[in-house]
Amino acid sequence: MPSFANPFSGNIDRKIGKTELIQAIRVDIASELEAIYLYDAHSHATDDPLAKKVLADIRDEEVEHVGELMTLMRYLDPSVADLMTEGEGEVKEMMEELGIKDATIHDVDASVGSLLDE
Ligand SMILES: [Fe+2]
Repeated sequence: MPSFANPFSGNIDRKIGKTELIQAIRVDIASELEAIYLYDAHSHATDDPLAKKVLADIRDEEVEHVGELMTLMRYLDPSVADLMTEGEGEVKEMMEELGIKDATIHDVDASVGSLLDE
């Protein structure tokens, strides 16, 4: 939720080091996730087609921001990147055990084939 009571609560009167920057980015990521949750809830809560479309569009932009921040986090702290890759591998193993197709792997041949059919 926004915190307007103190408009300077986020200001820091000095430059921050890498460790603090990483901590700040974690808060930024959490803020983006909260924004996604709110825009999504508001989009689903209205029947006004324009409001629904605008709110859903903003929600999707916030998802892009999460991607940007996660990429920045991986750059700043490679150990996070390693842990995330490890977690990703664990879930992919579970998917394989359950016979679930990995939707993040795009079938290049199918894409080329569909273009040739046109
Ligand atoms: Fe954002």
